[in-house]
Amino acid sequence: MTVIAPSILAADFARLGEETRAIAEAGADWIHLDVMDGHFVPNISFGPAIVKALRPWTDKLFDVHLMIAPADPYLAAFAEAGADAITVHVEAGPHIHRSLQTIRALGKRAGVALNPGTPASLIEPVLDMVDLVLVMTVNPGFGGQSFIGSALETVSRVKALTAGRTIGISVDGGVTPETAGPAAAAGADILVAGSAAFKGGPAEYGKNIAAIREAA
Ligand code: DX5
Ligand code: ZN
Repeated sequence: MTVIAPSILAADFARLGEETRAIAEAGADWIHLDVMDGHFVPNISFGPAIVKALRPWTDKLFDVHLMIAPADPYLAAFAEAGADAITVHVEAGPHIHRSLQTIRALGKRAGVALNPGTPASLIEPVLDMVDLVLVMTVNPGFGGQSFIGSALETVSRVKALTAGRTIGISVDGGVTPETAGPAAAAGADILVAGSAAFKGGPAEYGKNIAAIREAA
């Protein structure tokens, strides 16, 4: 079963609590929270205070995607704020092993993310420490970008590398009803969608999520 994880980066930031509840009630499996620092990626989104403020609005799994460097000084803050899964980028620093160890020690699901220009082989040494591999299908920083089809090669490689393990593979960036099928076929079992999930406002969320789910 494919997990649909709408990214609240595409929500109305003035009504984030209501938006989180609305997308959850519309059929989201997980809530994806994109944290950007204006340093690792060229945009700033929000930090642990927002994660904490949103926590009472739904019981859905909070899938926190950290696009920050360094990540380690903030892992405990995101865990305490209510993250269930915390994903760090393999490109964000020299100590991915330590970051994943810290996330696991905090009792959270640990994820490692790969940018479109990063080879899948980089995560091989840490596969026994991860619950989730996130493959970026856009260059991280902004919602609403076009899906980079060649990144599906990375999804296939990750699928082969993780065979026999219980590791989720998520695809993030440019996921729409058109790209969800190829992403799932390549091996993704978690689809993160921002614009495609939130387009048209709350009345459309159920239809938007269903369209992505059916396409996968
Ligand atoms: C990109 C973020 C994504 C993004 C997805 O930097 O990690 O989660 O918001 O948004 P869409 O689906 O609009 O590409
Ligand atoms: Zn993301």
